Amino acid sequence: MPNHLLGIAELTKEELMAFVENGYHFIEVSERSIKKVPTLRGKTIINFFAEASTRTRASFEIAGKRLSADTINLGGSGTSQSKGETLYDTLQTLQAMNPDIVVLRHSGSGAPHFLARSLPRTSIVNAGDGAHEHPTQALLDCVTLYDHFKREGRSLEGLKIAIVGDILHSRVARSNIYAHGLLGNTVHLVGPPPFVPKEFETAYKGKANVKVFHSIEEGLRGVDVVLVLRMQLERHDESFISSLEEYTRWYFVSRKLLSRIAPGAVVLHPGPINRGVEVETALIDGPQSLVTKQVTHGVAVRMAVLHYLCKTQAKLSNEVGEK
Ligand code: CP
Repeated sequence: MPNHLLGIAELTKEELMAFVENGYHFIEVSERSIKKVPTLRGKTIINFFAEASTRTRASFEIAGKRLSADTINLGGSGTSQSKGETLYDTLQTLQAMNPDIVVLRHSGSGAPHFLARSLPRTSIVNAGDGAHEHPTQALLDCVTLYDHFKREGRSLEGLKIAIVGDILHSRVARSNIYAHGLLGNTVHLVGPPPFVPKEFETAYKGKANVKVFHSIEEGLRGVDVVLVLRMQLERHDESFISSLEEYTRWYFVSRKLLSRIAPGAVVLHPGPINRGVEVETALIDGPQSLVTKQVTHGVAVRMAVLHYLCKTQAKLSNEVGEK
């Protein structure tokens, strides 16, 4: 029973589905006129965002508040890290205040894992670490697909998912690959060779059924879901593509393209969106797009994660008490 959420790679299929189903049930709480339940009254959650965020940060704060936890938000230039304090010292300081959960976003891959080892009394949630994993994004993507396909009498299994764009730098892609690997789905990775090396097919062997496509026509043909990634210019420390115009020319996801090769496909995007660069505005704002639902479900899934971790802590401390 994990008492942290560090990555989808560390979950079993049963644990993944428990988060998805619980997240799905929490959607209803946010539809009430009074959107607050007493579930985590008396619990303290610190949201520590050392890297920019709108969706993840706001939804963790809303999720904690809707569960009646006390939430505080720290990050950026507003902490003593700007005076040179190390991440370890900052989090040791915060742990001395006895939070129940620390939600961490950091540019360093593995930062949440390091904290989980260093701060054993606190549950750590990875809210995105460098180019490594973004587990709650994959969970909210799965809840969105679960909700969509349930309405069509289908399940989350037996799907063909295309992920398009800058896969190499994408923590969203990695977490989704692991999630769909657990679900037994086929994942098409689509993009130019520098972003989608052929080696990805073997890199995920045993973890996911991954196929690499450098042609968008071939990669998107007949898929059920197209997950369009943001071009992550801030993580490009060398020139991966000749120009954005060149990328757009070959890998732009448009309504016209989908109507021809994957007419029934739904479209996901984690945001923020570079409109007109990776995806057409008319598609992202149109009926095939589940982007707004992804944001709504982000709150529900984060409520499920916070609830699960507090429940696990209580179970573990009862077991220790019994010994
Ligand atoms: N999807 C996502 O992580 O968005 P933010 O960077 O705005 O949190």
